[in-house]
Amino acid sequence: MHPIAKSLSPSEIQTVAGYYASLTAPKAEEPKPLNDGDIALGKALADNGNWSSGLPACGQCHGPSGQGVGKSFPRLAGQGYSYLLNQLKAWKSGNRSNDPLNLMTGVVSKLDDKQMNAVAAYFASLPTTPQPGGKP
Ligand code: HEC
Repeated sequence: MHPIAKSLSPSEIQTVAGYYASLTAPKAEEPKPLNDGDIALGKALADNGNWSSGLPACGQCHGPSGQGVGKSFPRLAGQGYSYLLNQLKAWKSGNRSNDPLNLMTGVVSKLDDKQMNAVAAYFASLPTTPQPGGKP
């Protein structure tokens, strides 16, 4: 960068800076802000499931606090909110469908949008702890 910057005259620098300053960057998609209510609902669903809709607790497969179990049940704790939510939406829309035995396809069929948002918010809020015997 240094040799390039050195070869520009002061007026060229102003022209280039003015050009970049005039560009408008596309606005990044803003993730919905997380709130405590979402997280509390997410924790309840994750720990207990939802008896009335037949939703199993996420922890039954993903382990306590979503820390993951073996190679088959991925860790959810500490993954990004948008990533988690997008995976759930992808299963719901059929865009992600390679899960073993359609386990997750069954799970999302029992979640509405508010609940998907809540469990994503909850797991994203959790710290990651290394699994015993796992790689650091
Ligand atoms: C019956 C077992 C089971 C239950 C209950 C379950 N899951 Fe899963 N889940 C899986 C399996 C198996 C995978 C791995 C699927 C794959 O690799 O395609 C998975 C993957 C995921 C992923 C993708 C993770 C990644 O890294 O891409 C998310 C997100 C997820 N589950 C969320 C949840 C949530 C939220 C709940 C509770 C509402 C839940 N799961 C309940 C079995 C389950």
